[in-house]
Amino acid sequence: MKVIEVKELTKKFDKFTAVNKISFGVEKGEILGLLGPNGAGKTTTLSMLATLVKPTSGIAKVNGFDVYNHPSLVRKSIGFVFQDPSSDDTLTGRENLYLHGLMYGVDGINKKIDMVLKLVDLVDKKDILVKNYSGGMRRRLELARGLLHEPKILFLDEPTLGLDPQTRINLWNYIKKLSSEGSVSVIITTHYMDEAEELCDRIAIIDHGKIVAMDSPSDLKNKIGGDIVRLKIKNPKIGEIKKLKYVKKIKKEGEFTVLTVVNSGLHLQEILKKVGKVEEVELRHPTLNDVFLHYTGRNIREAEGEGGWAERAMSYQGRST
Ligand SMILES: Nc1ncnc2c1ncn2[C@@H]1O[C@H](COP(=O)(O)OP(=O)(O)OP(=O)(O)O)[C@@H](O)[C@H]1O
Ligand SMILES: [Mg+2]
Repeated sequence: MKVIEVKELTKKFDKFTAVNKISFGVEKGEILGLLGPNGAGKTTTLSMLATLVKPTSGIAKVNGFDVYNHPSLVRKSIGFVFQDPSSDDTLTGRENLYLHGLMYGVDGINKKIDMVLKLVDLVDKKDILVKNYSGGMRRRLELARGLLHEPKILFLDEPTLGLDPQTRINLWNYIKKLSSEGSVSVIITTHYMDEAEELCDRIAIIDHGKIVAMDSPSDLKNKIGGDIVRLKIKNPKIGEIKKLKYVKKIKKEGEFTVLTVVNSGLHLQEILKKVGKVEEVELRHPTLNDVFLHYTGRNIREAEGEGGWAERAMSYQGRST
């Protein structure tokens, strides 16, 4: 049974199209990951599903309810943790949760507050004003709030950003537990590949407002085919290299240039003929980051703005698919 159905969903801000006719479904109990560079349209997509942003066109049904016609029923079905914190600074953590519980008419509110506080490890801090919370504590409180009314569907927009490793793992385990009991479906955006890999049943890679690939993590990796080869070259013929479309990445490392190439065999021979003297070759199986690179032409880290030379090289080379 599908708990989310999206068809040709589109959001335009004036002339700019942030989300461009995307279509997908989410099954009951499924965890779907949205992976994409900054500005790809992930938050806008979640915001439309959470009825916080009105779609320009297309269809979106959440828990069977249309986002245009039944926004309040949609909101009752969902919990969300968004990028911008929205807890009240002037209240304590516990008061924030209490308020949220009242808003949603949560039964047995005190017991549930205790439960979620324990989950995010904020029991000791529950009576402190939120303005005195650290960034990670705020994040955890937001999470507790998203879970308090036991929603059928959870939207998590980079929920573990800035959390310490232990808390991240606790949270993953909890999300997995919610979904494996079959009752809660999750859409999560993240920039952490390990998180996507560990948590998600399927991953949709989004770039420029479009879904460019969608599958299970293992099938995504299998689909790009072959191994990943890393070549370290001295004095490369950059002009020649930029013409080769299976060269996915070009990076300067001191006096060397490092190429990342998908699929070995013939490609490798061609490269060896064309590019110059190869100092070092490294072969490995594709990771999710390679998948991301394959479909978006960028590393997830570079997509976050650490690009520099490599990124410019890639934009020269253009899209790879
Ligand atoms: N209210 C708005 N008005 C105009 N443009 C907007 C608005 N909200 C989002 N955008 C634009 O839409 C695009 C998609 O933004 P969105 O926040 O959905 O990206 P994202 O994939 O969540 O990125 P990030 O990884 O940085 O969170 C961006 O170019 C953004 O500038
Ligand atoms: Mg976002």
